[in-house]
Amino acid sequence: MKKQDYPDKISEANQRDSSGSKDRISKQFRRLRIWLSAGLILCFGLPLLVLSSYFHIQLNSTLKNSEKLSLLAISESQKNTIDLYLQERVVNLLSLFHYRELNLKPARHEMVNYLENLRQSSDSFIDVGFINPEGIQTGYAGPFEYLQGKDYSSEVWHRNLIGQEKNYIISDIYLGFRNKPHFTIATKQVIDGEFYIMRATLDPDKFYLFLRVLSLGKNVDSSIVNDKGVYQVVDPGRGKLLSKGDFIPLRSKESGFHEMDKGLIAFSWLTETNWALIVHQPLSAAHLQLLKARKISTIAILAIMLVVTTAIIYAVNKIVGKAQAEAEKRQEMRLQLIHASKLASVGELATGVAHEINNPLAIISSTSGVIKDMLDPQFNLDSSPDKILEKLSNIDTAVFRAKGITKQLLSLGRKNEPSLVPTNLNKIIKETVSGVKENELLLNNIDLKITYAPDIPEIALDPDQIRQVFLNLINNAQDAISGPGAITITTKERQDAIIVEIQDTGEGMTTGQIGQIFNPFFTTKEVGKGTGLGLSVSIGIMESIGGTIDVQSIKGSGSIFTVVFPLNDSKGAINAQ
Ligand SMILES: Nc1ncnc2c1ncn2[C@@H]1O[C@H](COP(=O)(O)OP(=O)(O)O)[C@@H](O)[C@H]1O
Ligand SMILES: [Mg+2]
Repeated sequence: MKKQDYPDKISEANQRDSSGSKDRISKQFRRLRIWLSAGLILCFGLPLLVLSSYFHIQLNSTLKNSEKLSLLAISESQKNTIDLYLQERVVNLLSLFHYRELNLKPARHEMVNYLENLRQSSDSFIDVGFINPEGIQTGYAGPFEYLQGKDYSSEVWHRNLIGQEKNYIISDIYLGFRNKPHFTIATKQVIDGEFYIMRATLDPDKFYLFLRVLSLGKNVDSSIVNDKGVYQVVDPGRGKLLSKGDFIPLRSKESGFHEMDKGLIAFSWLTETNWALIVHQPLSAAHLQLLKARKISTIAILAIMLVVTTAIIYAVNKIVGKAQAEAEKRQEMRLQLIHASKLASVGELATGVAHEINNPLAIISSTSGVIKDMLDPQFNLDSSPDKILEKLSNIDTAVFRAKGITKQLLSLGRKNEPSLVPTNLNKIIKETVSGVKENELLLNNIDLKITYAPDIPEIALDPDQIRQVFLNLINNAQDAISGPGAITITTKERQDAIIVEIQDTGEGMTTGQIGQIFNPFFTTKEVGKGTGLGLSVSIGIMESIGGTIDVQSIKGSGSIFTVVFPLNDSKGAINAQ
């Protein structure tokens, strides 16, 4: 690599690293956003849903009740109108008896007069007849002339009227002599101890039209049945006159309500006759209000949910976005710090390593001198190919050694994104201390003892980063020891963590120092030797995987640095940073 390329490469690597970790952070925060939003929406939405379902049910039953009541009210009011209508017809008829010159043998024109009179009150009247005590219709006016002189004494309504106390009777609809559906209103009067009857027949069609007008605009259709369920007045779409309907109202009740498959039914018994007025309402019409209310409440709930959801998502985005920006900033700073410290370590290491490279270089140069001499006949040395090969292999060994050293240097200078791989900590420690470090310690009269816990599980870690942590701690331990001493490294397996202890017999620290050693740029070392970054970078790396570094130290007798790698949350370790 050319010298001037170096800064470019670093900034390139910086950009790559920071964009990679930005991706990871944004992924992590996206997950946080989703969970937070979902949780909050659930917290608000669930009670809202429960409450709205409760109100929905309540509203349903209230509206159903009101449907029932309103249908009952319609049937009652129609029944009253019809009762009134029938009463009026009875009064029309009864008033004929009180004509000033009532003739007990009425002449034809008198009967025609009566009919005209009745028709003035209502056009439902078809004809009118006067029946003498023997049951013979002695007077008649109307379209069925042949009814004049007919004997009615054996007709049901006639016998009932004579037998009863009430002075009028309203018959069911029947076909009678004329073979056309009609019904009779008959009134009686005792004159000189004898029963005289004034009777009229009415057209049920008019009655039907009358009912139709009553039901207009109410989404109902009404019919009248007798106590056997036979239609007296009915819409042709619903049934046939004088046929039996599919609903027989209870006679024991004055009015009532029924829910059928096709619709709702309310009935009321008339007071004037043995008929019940039935009001039918199709379900679609009955539930019109219900459906409308349901629609409105559903739309309202959806709207509320939409507003709440939008508000939650907006708030969560705002809060989490802020936190994310901060985390990204922190991460950026940490990466910069790690890199700065690495570069510093390279500088430190370069001095330490210079003579390590000089050593193989010296070997190479002296060996090549020896070969030259061997080939010089003046010295008369053994220059057999075997001998020369032996010397050349010495050179090879020295070259490999130098290559190994430069490789380690390069690996330290790189600032990598953490790439998590299953890692055996024993192996990492071995790799960190073997080679240069081992020799260095030996040269400095420092005894290195390592005790490995057997068969420790692998943890997902970035080996480069962890190597840097160990190297920082070992360097510090080494720096703390002046003269002969010892560094003891121990790995231990606990149930939830793997512990690495790095103990030295160095100068130790005061409590005041211990409180500051993790601060960036805190150093007690001379300028050019210490940067004060090693521990702050190491603690950053450990915290990013959920681990810790603990310190125990006694001034004058040494320190123990305890590095804790959590086991339980290997996922956390992967997701950390
Ligand atoms: N093992 C140790 N024994 C005594 N002091 C230590 C030890 N490790 C760290 N320290 C103290 O902590 C300081 C900060 O260490 P570090 O962050 O690695 O920076 P640096 O090594 O560049 O000074 C050191 O300067 C030293 O005073
Ligand atoms: Mg250090």
